[in-house]
Amino acid sequence: MNIAYELPILGVGAALPARCVSNNQLVADLAARGVETNSEWIESRTGIQQRYICDETEGTLSLAREAVGKAIASSGVALDDITVLVVATCSPERTFPSVAAMVQGELALPTTCFALDVNAACGGFLAALSVARGHLLAAGKGTAVVVGVDVFSRLVDWQDRGTCVLFGDGAGALVMKVQPQTGVEPVGLLGVSMGSDGTMASALQATGGVSLTGTAGVVEMQGREVFKHAVRQMGSAPALLADVGLTLNDVDFVVPHQANLRILEAAAKSLDLPMEKVVVTVDKHANTSAASIPLALNEAWERFDKGDVLLLQAFGAGFVWGDAVIKL
Ligand code: UT7
Repeated sequence: MNIAYELPILGVGAALPARCVSNNQLVADLAARGVETNSEWIESRTGIQQRYICDETEGTLSLAREAVGKAIASSGVALDDITVLVVATCSPERTFPSVAAMVQGELALPTTCFALDVNAACGGFLAALSVARGHLLAAGKGTAVVVGVDVFSRLVDWQDRGTCVLFGDGAGALVMKVQPQTGVEPVGLLGVSMGSDGTMASALQATGGVSLTGTAGVVEMQGREVFKHAVRQMGSAPALLADVGLTLNDVDFVVPHQANLRILEAAAKSLDLPMEKVVVTVDKHANTSAASIPLALNEAWERFDKGDVLLLQAFGAGFVWGDAVIKL
């Protein structure tokens, strides 16, 4: 007999660096480095008003550890019941071991927990969600922690005003388990759909890497090109919704990757969804890469009701993009 499974979301958590940097502060810091920009440009072109930036005591590992700890606490799940920990990041603490393995050790998750990192840049959280979903469904039992964390303050070129004003640091996580379907309709993560186009790799990339230069490199982006593709791919949600038996009318909230308010507005318009349904945190966090969707989920968590349908949407370097549908 085939068993129908569902993947309820049990909790969320997030972590931000202690230091919040407003546009005005950033403009002054950059001026001291000889880089000319202004708050009006940053806010009108991106919607960003501030970002959080790590100091020397903070980093990918500390943010991930805090977000995972909070998500597990909010879920009520015992540490020993975590069977898989997937961390999405392209700014790992070390080249190896993985951030996930380090978090597993520091939080004393059981050694039966499979801990791994995935790198799909800004598309990372949905890639990690997809990996965790596959792992849970294959096992038919278990509980996953899915994390997005990035520290782009250590990856941007602080002399490049076209990119350095766009990013912030942070981490977010959710806890999801697999169980036989309990009601008539499944709840939780209903589906994930990912896509990629490596021919666009050079439109958004780091200039270095272990194999290429032995250094991490810095972020390099053809902003307008990325903008155009992001809006187009974020319009691809109806296909996944149809796969899970829903339409755009069923969507209560969109939780998109937070790169630019203008991208969110253009994508909402192309889907004919009102902005009231779109969770916006880019003003507070800037672009936190893999962390932006779980940070936004955590921020809006109290606004959601049981039964709400969430559409998660990501787009980033690769290009890699994806949609996910969650019914709470
Ligand atoms: O998270 C992964 C996905 N990433 C994204 O989705 C980002 C997508 N792209 C974007 O969000 C936008 O393209 C940007 C915010 C990056 C740029 O906005 P834009 O409206 O496309 O501006 P632009 O790059 O075409 O630059 C317009 C002008 C240029 O000046 P000129 O040549 O017109 O005189 C730039 O030199 O803005 C200038 N500029 C700045 N001026 C003040 C670029 N950066 C700055 C700055 N301050 N920080």
